[in-house]
Amino acid sequence: MDIKNLKSEFPIFKQKINGKPLVYLDSANSSQKPKAVIDRLSNFYETEFSNVGRSVHTLAVKATNRFEATRDMLKKYFNAQHREEIIFTKGATESINLVASSFGDKYINNGDEILITELEHHSNYVPWHFLRKNKGAVIKFAPINKNGEVEIDEIKKLISNKTKIIAITHISNVTGAVMPIKKIVDMAKEKNIPVLVDGTQGAPHMHIDMQDLGCDFYVVSCHKMYGPNGLGVLYAKKKWLDDLPPYQGGGGMIDDVKKDSITFADAPTKFEAGTMQTAEVVAFAEAINFIEKLGIKNIAAHENKVLEYGFEKLKKNNSVNIIGSPENRGSVLCFTIEGIHPHDIATILDDEGVAIRAGHHCCQILHDKLGIAATARASIGVYNTKEDIDILCKAIDNCKKIFKT
Ligand code: ALA
Repeated sequence: MDIKNLKSEFPIFKQKINGKPLVYLDSANSSQKPKAVIDRLSNFYETEFSNVGRSVHTLAVKATNRFEATRDMLKKYFNAQHREEIIFTKGATESINLVASSFGDKYINNGDEILITELEHHSNYVPWHFLRKNKGAVIKFAPINKNGEVEIDEIKKLISNKTKIIAITHISNVTGAVMPIKKIVDMAKEKNIPVLVDGTQGAPHMHIDMQDLGCDFYVVSCHKMYGPNGLGVLYAKKKWLDDLPPYQGGGGMIDDVKKDSITFADAPTKFEAGTMQTAEVVAFAEAINFIEKLGIKNIAAHENKVLEYGFEKLKKNNSVNIIGSPENRGSVLCFTIEGIHPHDIATILDDEGVAIRAGHHCCQILHDKLGIAATARASIGVYNTKEDIDILCKAIDNCKKIFKT
């Protein structure tokens, strides 16, 4: 595979959108899927499908082995200490809800503080809000600086003896700020505060080593990592999985059920209630294979070149205002154009086959702070090239002509 020319690996690029070749710049939202992942999904359904962890027939045993093999693969890929530390969920949102609910149930009481930042996606704010509403927790927001980053000192300042958890994004899906997670975890450890990292924008673009990062929880969105939809991973340190109560109740997660008492299975099963996403988990192994064949460091280097090219080119365009100037930017370029609503930008770009996202990107707190209702966002995936950026910039010029700005 040639990293500079990967579109042929992704069937979606065979088609034209509005008569133009597809330029997909919305990978922060969801990535496209390589043929190997699509083939694995259909092949699994055609020849290997069964529920997992229940029946003893041949198909069930094989499917269970495949399912668990993905867990082993992820343990290795993310360098978790134990395979049980990899929990499958239906997405990053569910992973954070799981932690907020189970951790909150045991450790959050009236007046306890949860520390997040102004950068957070709604999925790393709203689940904590439920603890504010139902248990009287207090949510503190570490503020952004003028570059759209959160400085570690701002987080430090907000820590008190009531801080029970810090929940923070790895990379902002709006300003692109890459947060110094390791330093934040080290600082939190000194005060014995657990850290949850929203890695939805981090894991697709950088090498993630759980033992090196040292965080307590790390949340991954598989559909942003070239994997199937409806699947997420929660990495959690074993000590938490042993300690915390289950999130959802149902089949599969129990040890023994009686009319007057129930005991639960050990992790990971304890946190995987009901029928799991069998085919999706099995096919996600192909997404990891795809990433590993290219090498995550090579992917990062390629994407950063495209991103840097895009940043420089957009910067030269006088009417484009790029949101955020973090020292370390990852994968996203959010912008506004004076006099054109971001939704109009996105619609006109779509006519040219260019797919971007417009809106508040599920970050209303951040947009309020920036004093803007919405932004347009181009985000980079492994298949993007400098030519894609050239087409984006041409489409923006066309947009400006239409609006005479
Ligand atoms: N889907 C969200 C985004 O587009 C995370 O940024």
